[in-house]
Amino acid sequence: MELDPEEVSMYRTLAGAVVPRPIAWVSTRSPDGVDNLAPYSFFNVVAVDPPVVMFAPVDDADSPEGLKDTPRNVRETEEFVVNVVTESVAEAMNETAATLPAGESEFDRAGVSRADSRTVAPPQVAESPVAFECSLYEMVDVGGSSMVLGEVEWVRVDDSVVTDGKLDVKKLDAVGRLSGSLYAPTDDRFSMERPP
Ligand SMILES: Cc1cc2nc3c(=O)[nH]c(=O)nc-3n(C[C@H](O)[C@H](O)[C@H](O)COP(=O)(O)O)c2cc1C
Repeated sequence: MELDPEEVSMYRTLAGAVVPRPIAWVSTRSPDGVDNLAPYSFFNVVAVDPPVVMFAPVDDADSPEGLKDTPRNVRETEEFVVNVVTESVAEAMNETAATLPAGESEFDRAGVSRADSRTVAPPQVAESPVAFECSLYEMVDVGGSSMVLGEVEWVRVDDSVVTDGKLDVKKLDAVGRLSGSLYAPTDDRFSMERPP
């Protein structure tokens, strides 16, 4: 099969072949004080020093200013938290992808607990074992999406996922997104030594 992006929508091919994608469960606080929470799997690390992560909301013509709540809150407040999604919170994460009326918080709807952040106003998901508190580094328009770059200001790592003072990926059990309703666990692993 050959595909010409000018002829066919690329969503299915991109979302089905770029897998598994990590999921940023992003908490923000609107200028009115409503806590918002939503998953974004167009998500990755961009830089290590300083630590910068990115996620990319696709524009939404039905939302005010054509932006989903998360990028709109980030643009106005310049703060957000990326919570890591593990198997135990996967269903709650999925709940937070629902479109809610303005003023209703996904934290309450999905029954997840807020924990105070140290350096930013948006709360974090208490049940997520890792949370990255971020300040806006830059927001870039890329086609029909916004690429949100955030500098990590503080990290909370729960003791349950730490071994010898370091984050232990084997204890984390993060989940990745495949396509549509499919997800991948990270507890089936293999190991390869990197060549010198
Ligand atoms: C696992 C998962 C990953 C998602 N990833 C993205 C994404 O990368 N970009 C995007 O625009 N929407 C993504 N969505 C859809 C948004 O979560 C959804 O539109 C949500 O309602 C946006 O919420 P907000 O308006 O509160 O920001 C994803 C949904 C799920 C369930």
